[in-house]
Parts: sequence; C-alpha cells; structure tokens
Amino acid sequence: MFEVKSTAGLSKTEVYRELTTQLDAVLTGERDGLANAANTAALLFAGLGDVNWAGFYFLRGGELVLGPFQGKVACVRLQLGRGVCGTAAQRRATVVVPDVEKFPGHVACDHASRSEIVVPLVAAGRLIGVLDVDSPSLARFDGTDTAGLEKVVQIFLSHSDLSSLAV
Ligand code: SME
Repeated sequence: MFEVKSTAGLSKTEVYRELTTQLDAVLTGERDGLANAANTAALLFAGLGDVNWAGFYFLRGGELVLGPFQGKVACVRLQLGRGVCGTAAQRRATVVVPDVEKFPGHVACDHASRSEIVVPLVAAGRLIGVLDVDSPSLARFDGTDTAGLEKVVQIFLSHSDLSSLAV
C-alpha cells in the first residue's frame, strides 16, 4: 500500500517536487495506462490544494473522451479546437486560463470552476489527450503549475502503455 504524504504547508515549488517524486514511486513497475491515469488524478487532487477537478481526457475517434478523474461528474466528449481542453489539444501547448468566464468557448462542467490549466499529452509526436485541472479560485495557476504539471505528464507518459487509451 502506498502512503501518500501530505503536501500541507509546502510552497508551490515544493508541492510539485513532492508530488513528482511520489508519482514516480507510485507508477514505477506498472505499465497499465488506465490504472496510471487513475492514480495520477488521485495524487494531484489530493496533493495540489485549492482544486475541484483533476483528470484526463483521451483522444478517441477524433474527439476528447473523459478518462480517469477526481471531482464532480464531468462532460464526456469535447471537440478539438473548442473549450480549454480542445484548444490545448489542438495547439499541443499548455493553456492557462486565469478566469474561465473570459475564455471564449469554455465548457462549464462544474460551475464552481473559476480558473483552469490544461496540459496536452503528446508521445512520440502523437496527441494522446490532455490533463485538465480546475480550481474554484481565480488565477490559481501560474508558470510554476505549468512546469510542474508538464513534468507530471512526462512521468505519466514515460511509465504508461498508452495503446488502449487513445484510439
Ligand atoms: N472546462 C473544460 C471542460 C472540461 S471540465 O473542466 C472537466 C474545457 O473548457 O475544455
């Protein structure tokens, strides 16, 4: 049984250092992409603080389809190029949205969400999906979150067999 260490009281940089160390330990020895996505979402939701949703969408049949997550019931299918997730996927670049109400086309799944960050999952030049994290606070995410969550995505991708996730 893996004991998740508390990140309470740590600086944001320290939180990501702790979470990436823990994630590497949790995923080491397991290649199942679905199981690894579920544990990644759980670790982020428990450890990040001030977030109300953390999880994955995978590119399946040309659209983003809901994967493992923690938070409220969410929209199942998102179109490429639409909303925050679809924009990050299409650009293949992280998108940080300080105020979701000011993002044209934002898809509101949980009305508590005020800010959002979406990191694309790209492996061997192929778009696999996105990691999405939402917060009930405005401007919750900054460059430290971008760097930290991009590292989280790299750890997830390098440990996981993705063949059945994106089809
Ligand atoms: N807000 C996202 C949709 C996904 S939910 O936040 C979980 C978007 O605009 O793409």
